[in-house]
Amino acid sequence: MRAVVVRGFGGPEVLELAEVEVPRPGRGQVRVAVAAAGVNPVDAVTRSGVLAQAGLMAPRAVTGVGWDVAGTVDAVGPGVEGFAPGQRVVGLRDRLDVDLGTYAEQVVLDADALAPAPAGATFAQAATLPLNGLTALQALDLLALPAGSTVLVTGAAGAVGGFTVELAALRGLRVAALAGPEDEELVRALGAEWFVPRTVPDVARAVRESVPGGVDGAVDAALLGVRALGAVRGRGAFVAVAAGSAPTALRGIRVANVWITADGPALARLSALAADGRLTLRVADTLPLEKAADAHHRLEAGHLRGRLVLTP
Ligand SMILES: NC(=O)c1ccc[n+]([C@@H]2O[C@H](COP(=O)([O-])OP(=O)(O)OC[C@H]3O[C@@H](n4cnc5c(N)ncnc54)[C@H](OP(=O)(O)O)[C@@H]3O)[C@@H](O)[C@H]2O)c1
Repeated sequence: MRAVVVRGFGGPEVLELAEVEVPRPGRGQVRVAVAAAGVNPVDAVTRSGVLAQAGLMAPRAVTGVGWDVAGTVDAVGPGVEGFAPGQRVVGLRDRLDVDLGTYAEQVVLDADALAPAPAGATFAQAATLPLNGLTALQALDLLALPAGSTVLVTGAAGAVGGFTVELAALRGLRVAALAGPEDEELVRALGAEWFVPRTVPDVARAVRESVPGGVDGAVDAALLGVRALGAVRGRGAFVAVAAGSAPTALRGIRVANVWITADGPALARLSALAADGRLTLRVADTLPLEKAADAHHRLEAGHLRGRLVLTP
């Protein structure tokens, strides 16, 4: 089968479409025939070597690329219950230390990293859910705010930010969304009560004009760090999303970094929300597997709305 691999870190041109052996599912594992694989920022920093430099993965002879998958179960290993060949699923590969990612025609995942695909969604739409839906959910869990609390979401029009706005509103949180002026309508439709344009010179002051005293918590999907921390009240909570983007925990603010973890049952709940139309699955474009390098060029150029998806 064909899979995209990296043999030496670098620009998008190092993404190599290789012929590899079809992986076999072991005990507790499921093989998925990939219909769609989301293209995420983590894939670009895996490919470029930034993750290896940051100590988040050991350099390897061959590195697989891609975390998000939607497709059809095509084989199950011993001991797997709840999944059978032919079933439409979504899943998350959350390990960097393996030879194959989801940019492939088939991928083997642990059964507990899978969930039924959202009913009514295309495979491309479904592939936008696992990584960023789970990150949003796990970030909000880290904030641990009761209903009625206020939360700032930066990068609110992005993949993590958009799901965070929707899931926060579903939890009864009151959301201030920071995004580009052209995205106000979008983030309000996702559930934001207040809008803060990213062009403001002082994020903390602008947020505090809407929420006097500061928000109870923040999810910083735009990596603003200390610029967003100033919007949070003393003894509030702040969740960073990337290595090196967590600010110092000033004023008694609880600062945590979310690190995505595969979670099949939680993904199944997200999938049901998406099927009900309560989570919005946004696809910027679909490209064939052999266009992975083009997809990375477009990802790194920025300003995408919705996810690029590879469709082997
Ligand atoms: N730790 C984890 O477990 C985990 C999991 C998933 C993702 N992540 C990380 O989370 C981050 C967001 O991922 P994503 O997929 O949501 O990316 P994305 O879809 O590109 O969204 C990021 C958003 O932030 C906006 N933005 C960029 N700079 C900004 C600024 N200075 N002020 C306000 N908004 C700004 C971007 O707008 P433009 O497109 O217009 O620039 C975009 O809308 C990435 O760093 C990713 O690696 C971490």
